[in-house]
Amino acid sequence: MFNQDWRFQLGDVTNGPDTSLNDSQWRRLDLPHDWSIEGEFSEKAPSGTGGGALPGGIGWYRKTFTMPMTAKGKSIFIEFDGVYRNSEVWINGHYLGKRPYGYSSFVYELTQHLIYGGGPNVIAVRVDNSQQPNSRWYSGSGIYRNVWLTTLNPVHIEHWGTYLTTPDVSSESATVVIKTQVQKSAAPVNLTTIIQDANGREVTRHTEKDVRATVSQTLKVSAPVLWSDERPYLYRVVSQLDQGGRILDRYETPLGIRTFKFDVEKGFFLNGKPLKIRGVCNHHDLGSLGAAVNTRAIERQLEMLKAMGVNGIRTSHNPPAPELLDLTDRMGFIVMDEAFDIWKIQKTKYDYHLDWDEWHKRDLEDMVLRDRNHPSIFIWSIGNEVMEQWNNNAAGGTITRELTAIVRNLDRTRPITSATNGVSRDNKVIMEGDLDLVGTNYHHVKLPEFAKMFPGRAIIGAETNSSVHTRGSYVMPSDEIRRWPRKEEDILKLGPTYECSAYDNSTAPWGAAHEEQWKLVKNNDFFSGMYIWTGWDYIGEPTPFPWPAVSSYFGIIDLAGFPKDPFYFYQSEWTNTPVLHVFPHWNWKPGETIDVVAYYNNADEVELFLNGRSQGVKRKEGGVMHVFWRLAFEPGVLKAVSRKNGQVVLTREVRTAAQASQIVLIPDRKTIKADGVDLSFVTVKIVDRNGTLVPLADNLIKFEVIGDGSIAGVDNGNQISHESFKGNQRKAFHGMALVIVQSKQKAGRIVLKATSANLAPASVVINAR
Ligand code: GAL
Repeated sequence: MFNQDWRFQLGDVTNGPDTSLNDSQWRRLDLPHDWSIEGEFSEKAPSGTGGGALPGGIGWYRKTFTMPMTAKGKSIFIEFDGVYRNSEVWINGHYLGKRPYGYSSFVYELTQHLIYGGGPNVIAVRVDNSQQPNSRWYSGSGIYRNVWLTTLNPVHIEHWGTYLTTPDVSSESATVVIKTQVQKSAAPVNLTTIIQDANGREVTRHTEKDVRATVSQTLKVSAPVLWSDERPYLYRVVSQLDQGGRILDRYETPLGIRTFKFDVEKGFFLNGKPLKIRGVCNHHDLGSLGAAVNTRAIERQLEMLKAMGVNGIRTSHNPPAPELLDLTDRMGFIVMDEAFDIWKIQKTKYDYHLDWDEWHKRDLEDMVLRDRNHPSIFIWSIGNEVMEQWNNNAAGGTITRELTAIVRNLDRTRPITSATNGVSRDNKVIMEGDLDLVGTNYHHVKLPEFAKMFPGRAIIGAETNSSVHTRGSYVMPSDEIRRWPRKEEDILKLGPTYECSAYDNSTAPWGAAHEEQWKLVKNNDFFSGMYIWTGWDYIGEPTPFPWPAVSSYFGIIDLAGFPKDPFYFYQSEWTNTPVLHVFPHWNWKPGETIDVVAYYNNADEVELFLNGRSQGVKRKEGGVMHVFWRLAFEPGVLKAVSRKNGQVVLTREVRTAAQASQIVLIPDRKTIKADGVDLSFVTVKIVDRNGTLVPLADNLIKFEVIGDGSIAGVDNGNQISHESFKGNQRKAFHGMALVIVQSKQKAGRIVLKATSANLAPASVVINAR
């Protein structure tokens, strides 16, 4: 890692690369860093609300470091996992290169430009995200992913130089082919490849003597444990170079052994068994942390999605942080790894179309080279809703063919798709592009016809739903779906509320409600599965509303990480976890007609009681996946009881809350690592004197951290909030807020205190170890 102790300056400087430049007044920070998230929301921000209405601009990063004399004669590389965007890098004033695409990983060799045994050496990085808009969603700005400095022997395994495939897999044995690219060497070197099981025990090894350039080795694993979404078993391949027994390089690659296919009639099969892909699309931002990568924050997202029953992730619409793919390997997700949102024709004025001609081949190759060993990747996507799909454009066919050839040249083990919302036979991307898999976006009404529309072709729902919800907001009647108008003027005429109902009854005009969509996917075997737009809310693209809305409504989980009600719909359909989820809250006007909905599973029926009086027993019938009652509101207690064969399975209560009286703090983890990176996500609730959540509370809460930690971000999931994500206070939204506590590189006690006018305060201790 090369993340510590950089200097940062917002704005351009003329002599940024010069070693003589005095940067001692620049801000000191650790990477990853996103400067946009620290900025203020503005209606005039050139990124527009699509980009989150946050600032872009130009920034400089510099790091001064020394290299020991012992490093002389070695090969030294600096690797950037991602810089948004147009990064240019210098070492000691020497220009190393430029990388326009903000989602590509890249490496430079530093060896011959370094000063050894004292120094100093200066790395300087200029980041230019000033041309706006260049994205349809929030991108973030800066060195927002990890940076690595690697010291290798001159003879080493090349960067991204291993490639694992498993051409033959059965329950008796698996063939593992390992191709390794080795630096040319004058003296003979040996390559030993070892396969270890998940416990680190050696399974098999092979040594190739006197290797040059690329070596191919074939190893066998007998009775292999297969990788699956339910049991993501990982072997490890250790590649070791030696010269007369002296180890020159050692490199580890995770290995997952699995078979899969996309069948034209029966959909997706994993290890011989049919499996619906129950996926979500996500953008890369991490809410109040912005685009700055944090492994625990990604892990928390994936843990919550797993709990919901999700088994697939689409990295919409760009190559993700490598940490995400390490996690999906370990946690068991079926990943669609996507390269681009734009080809040659623009979607926004300054987007990737400007870089297309010069860079698309390199960017696509680098994605495949970097990612092709991840067992969790099952699909390559070369684009999302590219403009070339429209108007019978011949480029739709030619560019698709060019891109599929680039991918196949590097990996033939996964099908290639392109996500298209022009779902028709006039679309040359689909019809002439040589794709392996038709990727459809939306058009749920036509979904049952897709098989006839594209005979003989396997099909995946690359993007579905676009339901829109605000957590804790309910518009009745619950059984009437509201599809928002397409045009901003029409929305303004409606008198925008800036909230969308969290009953499953609110979608974008092209979208489908969760239950509508899932029913179609479930009942059409040919349809391999779906990637819902989206799992989590993200910054930017606040469809259907204009400013002041600045973050998305599409998530099943809000920006702060709190589930919206449809989360439990999926949990009831997709998991065996016992579910009985009853909503909405129970604070309404006396006499008001209120729809009460329940999602449940593992039971035959649900009975609802209002203040002890039964409101009737309901069962899911006729393919409907929920039950509901229409009641006249009276304050008190709603109680739901689910039963199977007459036996109670679960009981849930929703109570009318009295006045807000106290704050409650609930950390997701009370012990975190003292590494300056780890996080505890603390849920903040405003409750009444009995501990019932006050569903409309919006009290301003102030936070203070005492001890060896800091506040990394605050949020509440409100799509129109313009409060700073980096402040130490936040209003509650529908009774809740989030504060993220980060450790320092020091073990100790971290005390988080929360106060608010007229409420009893709260505090919690988090231990950093
Ligand atoms: C799709 C697009 C996504 C997002 C979504 C919103 O057409 O691929 O990036 O914009 O619409 O509904």
